Amino acid sequence: MCGIVGYVGEKQAQDVVIEGLRRLEYRGYDSAGIALVHDDRIATDKRAGKLANLEKAIDEHPLPSSTTGIGHTRWATHGAPNDTNAHPHLGASGRVAVVHNGIIENFARLRDELERAGHELLSETDTEITAHLIEDEVVAGADLTTAMQNVCRRLEGAFTLVAVDSHDPARVVAARRNSPLVVGIGEGENFIGSDVAAFIEHTREALELGQDQVVTITREGVSVTDFDGNEAEGRRYHVDWDLAAAEKDGFDWFMRKEIFEQPRAIGDALLGRHDEDGQLKLDEVRISDDELRDIDKIIIVGCGTANYAGMVAKYAIEHWTRIPCEVELAHEFRYRDPILTRNTLVVAISQSGETADTLMAIRHAVKQRAKVLAICNTNGSTIPRESDAVIYTHAGPEIGVASTKGFLTQLVACYLLGLYLAQVRGTKYGDEIAAVVRELAQMPAHVERVLADAETIYGLAERFKDTKSVLFLGRHAGFPVALEGALKLKELAYIHAEGFAAGELKHGPIALIEEGLPVFCVVPPRGRDQLHDKMVSAIQEIRARGALTIVLAEEDDDEVTPYADVRIPLPTVPTLLQPVIATVPLQLFSCELATLMGHDVDQPRNLAKSVTVE
Ligand code: F6R
Repeated sequence: MCGIVGYVGEKQAQDVVIEGLRRLEYRGYDSAGIALVHDDRIATDKRAGKLANLEKAIDEHPLPSSTTGIGHTRWATHGAPNDTNAHPHLGASGRVAVVHNGIIENFARLRDELERAGHELLSETDTEITAHLIEDEVVAGADLTTAMQNVCRRLEGAFTLVAVDSHDPARVVAARRNSPLVVGIGEGENFIGSDVAAFIEHTREALELGQDQVVTITREGVSVTDFDGNEAEGRRYHVDWDLAAAEKDGFDWFMRKEIFEQPRAIGDALLGRHDEDGQLKLDEVRISDDELRDIDKIIIVGCGTANYAGMVAKYAIEHWTRIPCEVELAHEFRYRDPILTRNTLVVAISQSGETADTLMAIRHAVKQRAKVLAICNTNGSTIPRESDAVIYTHAGPEIGVASTKGFLTQLVACYLLGLYLAQVRGTKYGDEIAAVVRELAQMPAHVERVLADAETIYGLAERFKDTKSVLFLGRHAGFPVALEGALKLKELAYIHAEGFAAGELKHGPIALIEEGLPVFCVVPPRGRDQLHDKMVSAIQEIRARGALTIVLAEEDDDEVTPYADVRIPLPTVPTLLQPVIATVPLQLFSCELATLMGHDVDQPRNLAKSVTVE
């Protein structure tokens, strides 16, 4: 989810690139860098932290004048956010510079190959190998475009790459697979951007590249090929968004944009997590397999939405690993003097990695010598730094205060953790694990289908925009979904909303049901157990008392039809994975209702994106 800019033209490339990076900073902000082609050399500077750090460095040590350049703002995936890991990365002799967005899945193998051939790699990134590979190609005589094509054919994963070659100063070459890339078409100048915000103040004529395409820009023109060098075409269009809309990809809110990014985010969270033999592999798990085999208890800590991800994780982890698993609000954890031993695994879930309550909880766990594993979206943040292991969720920056893609990717990371533990401890056969991984791989497409029906949900928000109270019901893994649906509505629309386990209704909450009260009901998939039927009975009971039932159930589940005032169809998936898709309509509903009520969806009142006080 990094930001990428490329420029070739008549203006000072430094100004164009830095301005483009400023516009893209919302895509990533843990480091920034620039490379300019000057006098057959590459001049580069890159700094950890916000773009302002890079600008200050350039002010102090000016770069040479140049009309060809590339730049990058980073959202770290491989390696900590420091100066060395910041982009651009250079080839062995510094002739080629590359910036990259995405994840190269086979980078470990390519890195080994390069090191065996005598290359010295300086960073921990997956990007640097591409600079070395492309440079090897141009040194061997290929032009930059051919070099890019040759290298891209060897790469697996998702990537946008942009490269310059100091021996070919008036050309910038870029490529894309499963990662965004647009070209800005100017007069006597052309641009590359990860989105149109990068160049919108210079031109509104854009060319969107297709999958597996390479684009070459010079002052005079733009040419597109596929990875084999065959001529290809992008999609040309005129941008009529203003700058603010461009940053949000045309959406009205970052939150809505982030909801629609979820298929991509889930795909990224899954990327590179298993090797060629189908064995799961996670990023920075510095706890040995022997230690993982000795774990006899798991405690998951987190706050708010992250806590709900933990509640879903409990169902999956216990089912797959048979390890007892507790879930606890991070701020309650240490004050109850929890029983922790060397064989306890504490899993801390945090999008920001800076939530003080969660940080204090893991510090307490570390003191008691428990093992700590973080599930986190922010590379280099405090919680993963203080943990023994980390699984990054790779959702990219989440700007809307209410967590959306953060939550769905936390769920994916929790499933991966459960499956990894099952693999290490042998509680599931390899083919059983592979079957769940295949189901997970379908999730982006399922979420896409749910999103395709967004207008129906928006209609529902219009219908209920004057409501004062909404309830959410679920069972099993659907219970945390109900809690998450209620939390989203509270924080965005500021109305009374509560989530309940459906079985609990008869023990009290059913007294809340009155004529016309909207109740969202998350129905588990039909299966061998009785969960589904029990949920249908609960829906009957509340409807008989006047509730207006909005039923989220499998699309061909006819048993719920007689009791549903409104149906929201869900693709059929296993019960444990259903939260990934069932949450999406609830996010859309809250976002739309809050919009209709005139609230600031991205920055709800009284809330902050990361809560760094206890
Ligand atoms: C709700 C929301 C919050 C966060 C919570 C934890 O939409 O975003 O409930 O989930 O504050 O934040 P992180 O995950 O950054 O620790």
